[in-house]
Amino acid sequence: MVFYFSGTGNSQLVATLLAEMLADDAVISINENLKTGKNMTIQSKRPLVFVAPTYCWRMPKVVERWILETNFKGSRDAYFVLTCGGNCGNAAAYAEKLCAKKGLRFCGLAPVVMPENYLALFPTPSASECRSIIEHAKPCVAALSEQIRSGKRFAEPSVSFAGKLQSGPVNPLFYAFFVHDKGFRATDRCVACGKCAVRCPLQNIDMLDGKPAWKGNCTHCMACIGGCPTGAIEYKSKSKGRHRHYIMKDALCRENGGQGK
Ligand SMILES: Cc1cc2nc3c(=O)[nH]c(=O)nc-3n(C[C@H](O)[C@H](O)[C@H](O)COP(=O)(O)O)c2cc1C
Ligand code: SF4
Ligand code: SF4
Repeated sequence: MVFYFSGTGNSQLVATLLAEMLADDAVISINENLKTGKNMTIQSKRPLVFVAPTYCWRMPKVVERWILETNFKGSRDAYFVLTCGGNCGNAAAYAEKLCAKKGLRFCGLAPVVMPENYLALFPTPSASECRSIIEHAKPCVAALSEQIRSGKRFAEPSVSFAGKLQSGPVNPLFYAFFVHDKGFRATDRCVACGKCAVRCPLQNIDMLDGKPAWKGNCTHCMACIGGCPTGAIEYKSKSKGRHRHYIMKDALCRENGGQGK
């Protein structure tokens, strides 16, 4: 069974591809489950495959919390696939600790390089660069599906000293100093469609007088700023002019015939 959390669609795409390659395994959206506010019970005879973005060189905190609060019955084998813009440092060590706490068998963590989506803080690739990065990622996803299918553990990645620092002491500092919603604002391009509010996995956006208002519980997933159909959301002055990568497929895209935001 394949689970994904995704802000802008990279991890959703990787999860969907993996599930197809694993003979149509079921795909479960952690985003949608978080919105229900209810703890889930999962019954699966097949390995548990968790796909998520890398946040600050680790699995997102919100995903760790979801795994801890979910009741898994059946298979105890847990694979982790972290999509990332560059590298996920020593994320594997923390996923392994989580498994020990949860009574799951850690079967490895593998990074898949996908388009960088962190436009609030970093430059992002152009649309054509994003397409090329995604094409390069597909063979890597196929190789991972083969390892899962044959029950092999993922190879242990070598981790640099910098990677240990980034996933270790830097991770909580990064969250404390950078991961908050104070920098978001909607410009005059906002057409009051409400998509940002519906898409926020943490239900952190209310529509007030036709404009989004952020409520202080943000994990910086970039769904609101990336998915806005008119490019109306900015983050301080940093996001100006940056490409908004967004390939998430959800009910709001399906309204547009599955095309665009
Ligand atoms: C808050 C945040 C932190 C990130 N931290 C990292 C990181 O530590 N290393 C990295 O390579 N990419 C990092 N990224 C980039 C994303 O992990 C990458 O673009 C991912 O594929 C996005 O997945 P999604 O589209 O499923 O949300 C970060 C992105 C965000 C929004
Ligand atoms: S998605 Fe964009 S246009 Fe729609 S309400 Fe939000 S900011 Fe406004
Ligand atoms: S407010 Fe925006 S960036 Fe923050 S969690 Fe919600 S959708 Fe993601």
